[in-house]
Amino acid sequence: MTCVSLILAAGLGTRMKSKIPKVLHLLGGVPIICWSVQSAREASGSDPVIVIGPEQHDVRATLDLGIRYVEQEERLGTGHAASQAAGLLQGKVDLVLVTSADMPLLRPGTLRRLIEVQERNQGPISLLTARVMKSRGFGRIKRAKDGAIQAIIEEAHANDEELALCEVNVGAYCFQADWLWDHLPGLSLSAKGEYYITDLIGMATSAEERVAWVEIEDDDEIIGINTREHLAEAHDAIRKRINQKWMLAGVTILDPTTTYIDSQAEIGVDTTILPNTNIEGRTIVGEDCVLGPNSVILESRIGDHCKVFMSVMTRAILENEVAIGPFAHLRPGAYLCQGVHMGNFGEVKNSTLGPGVKMGHFSYVGDAKIGKNSNISAGVITCNFDGKEKHPTEVGEDVFIGSDTMLVAPVRLGKGSRTGAGSVVRRDVPENTLVVGIPARAIRKLEESD
Ligand code: UD1
Ligand code: CA
Repeated sequence: MTCVSLILAAGLGTRMKSKIPKVLHLLGGVPIICWSVQSAREASGSDPVIVIGPEQHDVRATLDLGIRYVEQEERLGTGHAASQAAGLLQGKVDLVLVTSADMPLLRPGTLRRLIEVQERNQGPISLLTARVMKSRGFGRIKRAKDGAIQAIIEEAHANDEELALCEVNVGAYCFQADWLWDHLPGLSLSAKGEYYITDLIGMATSAEERVAWVEIEDDDEIIGINTREHLAEAHDAIRKRINQKWMLAGVTILDPTTTYIDSQAEIGVDTTILPNTNIEGRTIVGEDCVLGPNSVILESRIGDHCKVFMSVMTRAILENEVAIGPFAHLRPGAYLCQGVHMGNFGEVKNSTLGPGVKMGHFSYVGDAKIGKNSNISAGVITCNFDGKEKHPTEVGEDVFIGSDTMLVAPVRLGKGSRTGAGSVVRRDVPENTLVVGIPARAIRKLEESD
């Protein structure tokens, strides 16, 4: 049977009290709606159709191609939202999987089971249910004495007896498509002025049609996001899910409760992540690394056998066997080649540190290229900004830059050169030459033995 998924996302999300649409809040490093799209897409095997509000262009801009959109001009409820897709989908498919964009934790396998149950169901609807301790404002499932589902009662309209029911509607349904399009126009307006998709259940059972269900057992799947408190619960669940995935794949996570790994990150086997570490965005980490504690790594690439100890990296690259920290700060464009060691209070921006470079203590390197095996002593600064423009610094191989040297860019230091402590280098330094002073001047040519 052919199946298309329809994701309802036009709601205003007013309970979030936010300037941005609810479904664009981040969860595991990506907008909430991306999770709902991925699950629906995997379960149905096709690109979803999304119902959005008239001013939600940023939702379109966030998602990838292939997705089709229909607009709901007026927010008249979930039933009204679904009916907006009739024009696009009527007569095109056998089944319609309807989900809400604010239920991002539903797994593709769960939605797949729902579709399979509906494929075998004689009646027009199958839905997901869950037995819960906390109702989170969900509609209650009302059953007849024989156990058949009778209706869904929205919390706002439930009496005390109905409120006490602990089986809830998760908000995911699989419909016989023709039945859905035929019956949506028959919904009547609720006391709250909305057309509820949930009223289709009562409509089916009054016509003696069978409503099938799939009960979800995993509590974390049924977190719907209506408020920021729910968002925090969802974060907690996603963090556990992602950490578990990496632990099963061979990554040691010492304290999963304080380790945050975004969904797009990748981590190699036998890497260890220590407490309070965030691995954000599309960061790729190799094997046998130790990351943390207390580190934040954003959109970066880290090779094998690296150590990132109490440090911050943003859009930076480490080749293999690089060790940084404590308190190293790599900013965008920092590229540390194999075997680099960078100690405490160093900052590198838009610069390459060649293989084996040592930069042990409090220095700033910006817009520079540092050659292989050079040494950057304590307090070295590339003065790359003259107040108007940025300028480059080039340092050759095997250069020794003495403590507190100021490299006033643009400037070049030739291969094998040295600077004395406290020099202010304003002019290029030839190869194998020692410069000292302010401004630095050459005092002698260096011999092999120096
Ligand atoms: C809905 C269900 C409730 C269920 C819960 C599970 C209804 C009437 N109630 O309640 O039984 O337990 O989901 O998550 O369906 N939306 C539109 N257009 C609208 C209104 C809503 O597109 O006019 C979208 C929202 O963006 C959201 C989804 O539909 O993604 C659900 O709407 P929401 O207002 O969050 O419904 P709930 O109160 O959570
Ligand atoms: Ca909701």
